[in-house]
Amino acid sequence: MTALSVSTSSAASLRADALVIGVAKGPKGIVLAPGAEAVSEAFEGKLAEILSTLGATGAEGEAVKVPSPAGLKAALVLAVGLGDAAEGSYELEALRRAAGVAARALAGSKKAALALPAESAEETEAVALGGLLGAYAFGTYKSGGGKEPVGELILLSTRKGSKDAKAAVERALVVGEEMNRARDLVNTAPNDLNPKGFAAIAQAAGKEHGLKVEVLDEKALLKGGFGGLLGVGNGSTNPPRLVKVAYTHPKAKASLAFVGKGITYDSGGISLKPAGHNETMKCDMAGAAAVFAAVVSAKRLGLAVNITGWLALAENMPSGSATRPGDVLRMYGGKTVEVLNTDAEGRLVLADAIVRAGEEKPDVIVDVATLTGAMMLALGSRTFGVMANNDELRSTLHTASGEVGEQSWPMPLPPELRKGMTESTIADLANMGERMGGGLVAGLFLKEFVAEGIDWAHLDIAGPAFHEGAPFGYTPKGGTATAVRTLVRFAEQKAAGGKA
Ligand code: BES
Ligand code: MN
Ligand code: ZN
Repeated sequence: MTALSVSTSSAASLRADALVIGVAKGPKGIVLAPGAEAVSEAFEGKLAEILSTLGATGAEGEAVKVPSPAGLKAALVLAVGLGDAAEGSYELEALRRAAGVAARALAGSKKAALALPAESAEETEAVALGGLLGAYAFGTYKSGGGKEPVGELILLSTRKGSKDAKAAVERALVVGEEMNRARDLVNTAPNDLNPKGFAAIAQAAGKEHGLKVEVLDEKALLKGGFGGLLGVGNGSTNPPRLVKVAYTHPKAKASLAFVGKGITYDSGGISLKPAGHNETMKCDMAGAAAVFAAVVSAKRLGLAVNITGWLALAENMPSGSATRPGDVLRMYGGKTVEVLNTDAEGRLVLADAIVRAGEEKPDVIVDVATLTGAMMLALGSRTFGVMANNDELRSTLHTASGEVGEQSWPMPLPPELRKGMTESTIADLANMGERMGGGLVAGLFLKEFVAEGIDWAHLDIAGPAFHEGAPFGYTPKGGTATAVRTLVRFAEQKAAGGKA
């Protein structure tokens, strides 16, 4: 991974392949952002003019390169757009994205210095995290390892020594590394990542970071009566797993359970997806990857909370042993479910995991899942839906996501949609209800499995989990690690004694 360090050197004297500055849209043309002062001096005050001539406008996403004048030790100046210049301060997300754009534009070079605004600890963290996330590259399958990401990012800051700036960079490093690990898991081809392999990775990483990891294999699942996980995993030669990752803190202020959907490949099963709908379905374990990354981050940051992560891992395949539409499954805890569509598999593995999570009586359960195409239709591909059995919790999570640069929107769980899942079935529930509001129906299904008295929220990340368009900001093509930062922020708030 790209190395990140902080330096108090002046931008003029630092040897690097490139020096990155920020430019914004001002009322009268482009404005150089704080951090660019020394660079501007080296250009004898003509930098803004030169950049304008080269077409720079300060718009978000823009990257304009200029050869350095004699006064700078770096070969190149790269100006990245910050969007509208607010009075002296920049949105943290604009800083993250600009740093990400710079890291992407400088892929292949060895050393880049970031002279972007980093006046507060928050700004420093934003620049550091955006840079690390933008530098991400997945070269596992490319001959020769693919395009090298930028080798080293040096954050220029006047605040290097201060305690809060140090902590800010440390947080960016932890969260950036864990998000990039989650992206790797999502991007790995599904023939190389099955439930057993995912569980082994969780065990190894857990060991590395001192987390307790327990794996239930197919025998243990059978013994325990985990009918949802087994029913979904039945069609595959790769059997399911339930992974429990426990982080505890001696001064924990709350106990949280994070539950992740971990379908390592979703073909739809016997209700097979048509061509065009399964090419990206290796991403169907993004919820489990996000949960795992969040728990490891919490441990590495030493947050004063207890968190149990539950990874519900299975591969959804059609075969002679696959669950049929019409089969009835007995879920963990005893409820029965008639499977009307084997492609509605996420809710089946999650139901088992949610019941199991509830047995440990956490204060809150948050599940994360690439659950429905309907949520994508509703919110597009960059925003996840937040549903909950508690309005305050739903709004806390929505607000937390906005603070860390993840787009989400609160969605309802209209009680009348529950009926479609309970009528005319031979079992307690069917795994499908009305087609309209499909994302909410799925949420209502999960709600049935939450124990009395436990606050629960559901993040449907089907849209933003996997980015298919052109890279933007710090978001590459493929796995995004969405929801990791929201979960970490939520845990931080709990550690600080915040209410649900
Ligand atoms: N994994 C899919 C949902 C999905 C779709 C995630 C697109 C990411 C991108 C899920 O298992 C699924 O197939 N859901 C069905 C449910 C339906 C059969 C009730 C869907 O959304 O069509
Ligand atoms: Mn499916
Ligand atoms: Zn799925």
